[in-house]
Amino acid sequence: MNTQLFSADEQDTKRAAEILKAGGTVAVPTETVYGLAADAQNPTAVNKIFTAKQRPNNHPLIVHIHDIAQLSQICSSVPEVALELAEQFWPGPLTLILPKHPSMPDEVTGGMTTIGVRMPAHPVLRKILAEGDLVVAAPSANPHKQLSPTSAQQVLESLAGRIDAVVDGGFCQVGLESTIVDLGSIEAQQSPRVLRAGPITPTQLSAAIGRSVLGYQEHQQSVPGNIEQHYQPKGRLTLVTTDDIVAHISKWPGNTACLWYSDTVAAHLTTVTPPNLYSISHDKAAYAQALYRMLYEIDQVGYDHIWVEQPPLSEQWADVNDRLRRASA
Ligand code: TXA
Ligand code: MG
Repeated sequence: MNTQLFSADEQDTKRAAEILKAGGTVAVPTETVYGLAADAQNPTAVNKIFTAKQRPNNHPLIVHIHDIAQLSQICSSVPEVALELAEQFWPGPLTLILPKHPSMPDEVTGGMTTIGVRMPAHPVLRKILAEGDLVVAAPSANPHKQLSPTSAQQVLESLAGRIDAVVDGGFCQVGLESTIVDLGSIEAQQSPRVLRAGPITPTQLSAAIGRSVLGYQEHQQSVPGNIEQHYQPKGRLTLVTTDDIVAHISKWPGNTACLWYSDTVAAHLTTVTPPNLYSISHDKAAYAQALYRMLYEIDQVGYDHIWVEQPPLSEQWADVNDRLRRASA
């Protein structure tokens, strides 16, 4: 299969929508990471996603909508709390788990009776979805367990020849996958909880609905696809302390890259900077946006080990810490 590279212009977004309508697979930009999209109402098309990614068939996919009215095609019921959260955070990096409409193919949800939905904010994807009046299933556009892509080039590196097209919408703004909130049962609607940490924090979610939303660390509920070993670069990733980095700076091992952000490390770099030390922002949003891209660049050079300076442990950084923990599992 020859994978076409599309731009974000009028003509190319039309072509992308046509391919999706016809049951093909197109990698699309979202504000979080690139997604591998297929028509969610077409089981044959959805199966192509699993084949391209080599992803186990029971891992449920997230569906992407462009209009809140589409919820009625996807969910058997839409609780008030879902509308409150949608009002506040859509379009944006929030996925809601809701009761699945019987007409949605089981291929999308791995046979589950609930379904994940989000309305992405990226203007290019919104244009494609509106163009074809589509609902697409779209997991991150990476081979199973590898790093999620934040650029069209990165998608091509791993999926060229396996999908119909990639739409280049530039680097992703947010850089990490959406927050997932469970509203799939009456019980979950009464006490919502986060199933995957993401850019929107439990504090923000709680404020929006006026009652408490549990964070991912405060409960442990297993869901297929929410696996420990995930988001992995090729080099072996280890979380290390600031002190560990400082202690090694004067004779840095050549086969080890280091991703650091703190002022303490910066203060020790004034004289000699080893070439394999990579600096990343200490601002949370900028850090999250750059993380996958930098790990990907580090992998392109090809180190045996990647040391990552332990980020702050506050709630705001929970998604970053979650991905790094899985990357080091
Ligand atoms: O930001 C994102 O959410 C990106 C972009 C492309 O939208 N998508 C994404 O999809 O991260 P993916 O397939 O890599 O992650 C989907 C995860 C599943 O592995 C599972 O943990 C959870 O979403 N999920 C999906 N449907 C679910 C359901 N019905 N119940 C519980 N968890 C579900
Ligand atoms: Mg993924």
